Amino acid sequence: LRINPDIDALTHEKITTGRKEDKFGIAWEDIRPILSTTYPHINIQGLAIHIGSQITHLEPFENAFKKVAALIKELRTTGITIKTLDLGGGVGISYHNEKILSFKDYAKLVKTVFKDFDGRLIFEPGRALVGNAGLLITKVLYVKRTPHRNFIIVDAGMSDLLRPAMYDAYHHISQVTERKGNSYIIADVVGPICETSDIFGTARKLPQTASGDFIAIHSAGAYGAVMASAYNCRHLPAEIIVNGNKYAIARPAINVNEQENTLSSVIWD
Ligand SMILES: Cc1ncc(COP(=O)(O)O)c(C=O)c1O
Repeated sequence: LRINPDIDALTHEKITTGRKEDKFGIAWEDIRPILSTTYPHINIQGLAIHIGSQITHLEPFENAFKKVAALIKELRTTGITIKTLDLGGGVGISYHNEKILSFKDYAKLVKTVFKDFDGRLIFEPGRALVGNAGLLITKVLYVKRTPHRNFIIVDAGMSDLLRPAMYDAYHHISQVTERKGNSYIIADVVGPICETSDIFGTARKLPQTASGDFIAIHSAGAYGAVMASAYNCRHLPAEIIVNGNKYAIARPAINVNEQENTLSSVIWD
């Protein structure tokens, strides 16, 4: 059973999931009555928490873990044994050279807080495993200069990587195509979609880039392709796994519009 420990993960408002005002989990006050009820068809095995994502401090984990450990101890005195405890994910990564917590310290905390727990522990890390392993490679369509701002317009958009539009997230951006010389451009890196939120970076310093060059948007391995959509009739980009000098296509590019046409012909023909 997922429970809500009412702990602020001290992360972005839209990815904090363990406060009482968040939609997730059984409210703290309801846990004891639920666990002390006998259900004819349910054999309760364990508890789960997941207080949020992109957590960069140990304190929220510590607060949540201590609260749950105390609850498990208290439940044991009333004859309820928790056999499995799922501590969720949430360990953050560095997008912008920010200080992050280490798995070593996280493990030390778990070992300390749950030293008396003799059940099975489950962890669900996501972003920390794959976030920094992914790059979104995109082609420069056009460099637009105005008296007010420069724009590097690329062929990827918020439909491919939603995090900047949705969370104002920072993603490091670098030039892939080699450019000789030291001249730079300061520009906003933007996509071709019809929204001002379709922006990957503001006032970024990049080598003088030109149409046809490739640009890399870093740390796109988590909450990237899986959050992609066909908004603006766009296709889903191919996903490619690279290992040294070998590569494999994990998923070819998908023309969602063609798929929709196939589907409608099945329905209407
Ligand atoms: C229940 C649950 N577990 C684990 C995760 C993974 O979180 P993270 O990528 O922050 O490790 C999520 C993410 O939304 C989640 O909802």
